[in-house]
Amino acid sequence: MAARKFNLAVVGATGAVGREMIKTLAERRFPVAELRALASERSLGHLLEFGDREISVDVLGPDSFAGIEIALFSAGGSVSKEYAPIAAKAGAVVVDNTSAFRMDPEVPLVVPEVNPAALADWQKRRIIANPNCSTIQMVVALKPIHDVVPIRRIIVSTYQAVSGAGQRGIHELEQQVRDLFNLREVKRELFPHRIAFNVIPCIPQSNAFGEADQTTEEWKMINETHKILDPAIQVAATCVRVPVFNGHSEAVYVELERPLPAAEARELLRQAPGVAVVDDPPTMVFPTPFDASGEDLTLVGRVRNDPSNPNGLWLFVVADNLRKGAALNAVQIAEVMAAKYLV
Ligand code: A2P
Repeated sequence: MAARKFNLAVVGATGAVGREMIKTLAERRFPVAELRALASERSLGHLLEFGDREISVDVLGPDSFAGIEIALFSAGGSVSKEYAPIAAKAGAVVVDNTSAFRMDPEVPLVVPEVNPAALADWQKRRIIANPNCSTIQMVVALKPIHDVVPIRRIIVSTYQAVSGAGQRGIHELEQQVRDLFNLREVKRELFPHRIAFNVIPCIPQSNAFGEADQTTEEWKMINETHKILDPAIQVAATCVRVPVFNGHSEAVYVELERPLPAAEARELLRQAPGVAVVDDPPTMVFPTPFDASGEDLTLVGRVRNDPSNPNGLWLFVVADNLRKGAALNAVQIAEVMAAKYLV
């Protein structure tokens, strides 16, 4: 019997993540019957590559979801708030890459390598949330450790690429670098400070600060780690934008319930799904965002104990934020749904 195929929609198909979603569906040979690419009026009729086919972009509207079984959303929180319930009502299962529904207790927040069982609740709202990019790569790396030696506290600093701010973020870094090299005035549109040859300890770029002087990105890392991994872990985060086009890095410090030698931590990570250990400092082997970009795995290196604390462990965790941090994780969720819940 031929494998069942599904009708899919990608909302935000022309964006940095949407394009990656379409590429990932083709690369992983997701069983697609129809693929509907949806975006704003600006993109009507634009052609997007899907494997060896080209698909034409349609304008998102209330009737966009007739016959759609799985809808991947990445067009911003306000679009998801309005249209995800419409898609769900029309019969689709929504995998939403925005933060709109992540903390809704009736919405599973899932990283397939970490908490796939949470998908069992998908029918409550027919919406599944894809976590924040920085949270995904961190929990992929910490789950295999937490399963063996419980983590009490996480202290993380991020080094986040401009692609996390979408196509406009990529464009702004590119344009500022060109302007600087051509001795032109540097213009700012998206980021609150110059991003070229600079770092900005503030994500997102506007309305960033929330309760307790944390940014909303920092709160996402705290709250989502609690929902996905363990509410008992204390989490402290500083999220920083760096002038890297793609690939988020994180210096992650964990305080464990008991000592775990770095060699044992490395061994646990070697056996973990979705992780590649890239760790041989004497030969200059450690993960960088340049290496992680275009890769599916979360790269972990600089695994070392803390000389000042027997229960401390450091990790440097790097992943492609558009892939594992967004598109790939969403497609992996769709794959589990297709194989387990929608057959
Ligand atoms: P468009 O390209 O037509 O503006 P990014 O995160 O890279 O900025 O991409 C955002 C994505 O969300 C794009 O595909 C964009 O489409 C889409 N989008 C933004 N606003 C809307 C909207 N109101 N309706 C439909 N799609 C939208």
